[in-house]
Order: sequence, then C-alpha cells, then structure tokens
Amino acid sequence: MKKLIFKTQVKVLTWDELSDEQRQLLTIAKEQTKCSYCPYSQFHVGAAVLLQNGEIVRGCNQENAAYPSGLCAERSALFAAGASYPEQPVLRLAIACYTGGHFTEEPQAPCGACRQVMLETEHRYGQKMEVLLYGEKEIYVFESAADLLPLVFVSENLEG
Ligand code: THU
Repeated sequence: MKKLIFKTQVKVLTWDELSDEQRQLLTIAKEQTKCSYCPYSQFHVGAAVLLQNGEIVRGCNQENAAYPSGLCAERSALFAAGASYPEQPVLRLAIACYTGGHFTEEPQAPCGACRQVMLETEHRYGQKMEVLLYGEKEIYVFESAADLLPLVFVSENLEG
C-alpha cells in the first residue's frame, strides 16, 4: 500500500506582528461583520480582498430563509471582486467572525466551498493569494490559499 501525506503550514501571529497592510485589511474585514445579514445563525462573517491595483473589495455573509440560497462572506467578496475587476489578481483575503457579542478568540476555518473558490481565484490569475484568519488571541496567515486545500480540483482536472 502506498500512502500520500499532505503537509501544510500556517504562520500564527499576534496583531502587533502583522504588517500595516495586513492590519488594514483585517480591520476592514472586522468592520464588515457589521454588514452581515445573518438572522438565522447570528454568526457574522466579514471579508475583504486586496486587488493588485490597490482596490479593496468587501464582503459578508448573506443568509436566506431558504438556507442554501445564502452565501458566505469569502465568496461574496471574491465574486464581487471578479464582477467589478475581472482582470485584477487578488493578492490577499482577510476574514473575521463575530458572534455572541465579540470576535472569535480563535481564527475560524473557512468552509470547503469557500476554499474551492479561493483556489479557483489563485489558478485564474496564476498568483498566490495570502489568506488572513482573524482571532482575538492570534491570527493565522496562509501564504497561499492552496495551503488550505492541498488536494484541489481545478480546470486541469476536467481535462482528465
Ligand atoms: N460562513 C461564512 O460566511 N464563511 C465560512 O467560511 C463559513 C460559514 C457563514 C455562512 C452562514 O451565514 C454562517 O456563517 C453560519 O454558517
């Protein structure tokens, strides 16, 4: 039997250890939790993406009484960026979660569907996208979305 082992790495930093640019994007992601529409889960997720041209595009989760019709914060930001700036690579994505009256102590892992869209974004532009996950205690910094999803399905898979 053969076994494949996938390793991934994430930097764990404090707020003070981040760069000014990283702090700026996380601050916007935190602000965005206030725009979240989440009457069903009360779990407010904010996201912000930095594009190569310097534009920052915002997103947040949008729920719906027909639950699957809602959308996560990460995808709302990435799709909005793709809709307004289709030629601009996404350099960085920041995510923050707020529930029970405070931001989460620990960084929260993005769902599988959002990871899949993050990977498509990297492949689409041929460029790594840094992912920042905010926690009150510490922040996770992934150099590439691929570190969040090591075995990925992308366009090449369709070619067999
Ligand atoms: N949510 C996100 O916005 N991003 C994720 O990666 C995970 C979950 C949202 C969806 C839903 O509105 C709420 O969090 C609870 O699942």
